[in-house]
Amino acid sequence: MTETIGFCQETRAESCGFVLFGATGDLAGRKIIPALFGLCEKKLAPEKFYIVMAARTPLDRGAFESRLWDCVTKAGFTPSPESFSAFIARTEYLRADYDSEDFYRGLAARLAALDAGAGAKKKHLFYLATPPAAFGPIAGKLKACGLLSDPADCSCWSRLIIEKPYGSSPESAAALDAGLETPATESQVYRIDHFTGKETVQNVMALRAANRVFDATWNNKFIDHVQLTVFEELGLEGRAGFFEHMGLARDMMSHILQLAAIAAMDLPASFKADDFKAEKKRFFESIRPLTREAVTERSVRARYESYASEPGVAPGSAVETFLAFSFYVDNDRWRGVPFYVRAGKKTGEKRTCIKLVYKKPDRGIFKDVDIGYPNVFSFNIQPDEKISFSLISKHPGPKLCFTPRSMAVDYRTEAEEATGFPTDYERLLIEAMAGDQTLFLSAFEVKFMWEFLAPFLAAWKEAPGENPLYSYADGSPGPARAAELPNIDGRSWL
Ligand code: BG6
Repeated sequence: MTETIGFCQETRAESCGFVLFGATGDLAGRKIIPALFGLCEKKLAPEKFYIVMAARTPLDRGAFESRLWDCVTKAGFTPSPESFSAFIARTEYLRADYDSEDFYRGLAARLAALDAGAGAKKKHLFYLATPPAAFGPIAGKLKACGLLSDPADCSCWSRLIIEKPYGSSPESAAALDAGLETPATESQVYRIDHFTGKETVQNVMALRAANRVFDATWNNKFIDHVQLTVFEELGLEGRAGFFEHMGLARDMMSHILQLAAIAAMDLPASFKADDFKAEKKRFFESIRPLTREAVTERSVRARYESYASEPGVAPGSAVETFLAFSFYVDNDRWRGVPFYVRAGKKTGEKRTCIKLVYKKPDRGIFKDVDIGYPNVFSFNIQPDEKISFSLISKHPGPKLCFTPRSMAVDYRTEAEEATGFPTDYERLLIEAMAGDQTLFLSAFEVKFMWEFLAPFLAAWKEAPGENPLYSYADGSPGPARAAELPNIDGRSWL
């Protein structure tokens, strides 16, 4: 196990009550409940911590506990009887009627009793794993029943966590925000994009900030282009009801933009939320908006072959499961450097990575010789968390010939050794319980995402003939047309 050096900062979750709305839904089952269990299991949960789960479905205690067991074990945990008992002892279920004030009054009374029992202050985190249309109404009723306390009163707090889809257009996202604005302040709203909680995503920033040698070359003087790949091996996995309304672009664009920002934004003055968000905002504002023409020329949408026969897919559905495109960032650092993106489902592999591809030599003995791109900085975000840098070295022997080499840090091995290494959702829940919004999205970022998407959606709707939906074989890295996308500029995917 490697030693840490110097600076070491730990965010600790504050004691609180955690209320999960939509507890029987897909998001809660796949992500939130396992993350809550993980926090308890890894001793990352705060000292005084209870969990109230609420949903419309009536569940008796036995059914509730067996549901929790299923969620936790399906997520890959193998809990001992003791650790599972310790988890369920912190947890209770309430049948919810989201429209009725009686439900919220009952909840308020229950939380007050639990706080009193735990000797805890009134500090509540409400995770709304519900359809987005319910965000505003739920927040309004929480407020009306005294459950969204005024953040000015610092001996207690209440926060809301919400998760995408944040609407389906800039207008509907603004309407969702408007629904939250009256009952809650921006400082109480935590918008999750779980990619920001991934360990290696955090490391991109840490590495840039700590190693001047890298960040000094992180610009258009040295970098030729940037590649982002977000490939998934899985297809729909029974989520047609959700995905048929979303498509890949709506589903994944927030993740793509967050990865781009973490890799390419200027370093913030500090990792405090205000500094971090201000710098990220500047980066997004520098992205050149795509026109509909640019979408047609420089993007490819596609769908895997067996999509139409997935359960729940509507006949004639034209939903994309793959998107490739390129964009530019018009600031001093990145002017003229293309960013190529490809993201897709059923691509034969799970791979999320960022590659910064350095320019070829423009002087000296290699000026006129093609040695490809000698230097590539690769961040493998998942599944094999690894950072590598490729370079050209002399081939051993009497001749002067060169050979590509790679220096790699296998990040996962080291990280796994560390005690209590949190997953993306676990980390974000800790941050929310600590009141740190650095890794959460601002209203601006959500609005920006929809504005950025708008020309794609318009081009596909209004000119489907010019923007066809290509097909790709299940398990392949997308259609040939996407493979060729960087060729327009004389480049190729690495
Ligand atoms: C979610 C999308 O936000 O991210 C899913 O809704 C996608 O469609 C998932 O599969 C990918 O996340 P991860 O962490 O598994 O790479």
